[in-house]
Amino acid sequence: MKIRILLLTLICAMATVPGVRAAEGKAKGGDKEEETELGNQMDKMGGAFRKLKRQVADAAKNEDSLKLVATIKAASVESAKLTPAWKPEQKDKYQAKMKEFNGSVAKLEAALKAGKNDEAAKICEELGAAQKEGHKEFKKPDSKKK
Ligand code: HEM
Repeated sequence: MKIRILLLTLICAMATVPGVRAAEGKAKGGDKEEETELGNQMDKMGGAFRKLKRQVADAAKNEDSLKLVATIKAASVESAKLTPAWKPEQKDKYQAKMKEFNGSVAKLEAALKAGKNDEAAKICEELGAAQKEGHKEFKKPDSKKK
């Protein structure tokens, strides 16, 4: 008799656990990636960089472009202090790459201030390539956001 009760309890427990897990998943946003401090900084860069790419060659927009660069600069400086969620063990390598990225952002700022838009556009392309590389190396591949 005792064994039967025990078995019944076990079966009930097994039936509820997956349901609880599913509910937990939903509370965290289902299949959406967990929000991270680094992700937030990256999002700031993302918005500014998208707009910057469209207008970087246009000297008439340099004042606004410099504001976008300032946003990217601030977010990338903060990003360089953080740890990638997917590859925490590669923190040092990631931070070194991010600092290299900061150096390119500083060059971009200098080019825009000097009115060298062709050069600025070239550096922007380099930043795009660094983004691609950085994401390939340190960002979870099946993450929906680019
Ligand atoms: C123009 C340059 C870049 C842009 C616009 C950019 C943009 C983004 C965006 C929009 C996300 C998704 C954020 C979210 O989950 O909400 C992201 C994530 C990420 N990016 Fe970038 N990124 C850039 C450069 C880089 C570089 C150079 C690296 C590495 C050296 C890097 C490493 C990462 C990592 C590791 C994540 C995942 C977030 C986490 O681990 O918490 N990104 N990025």
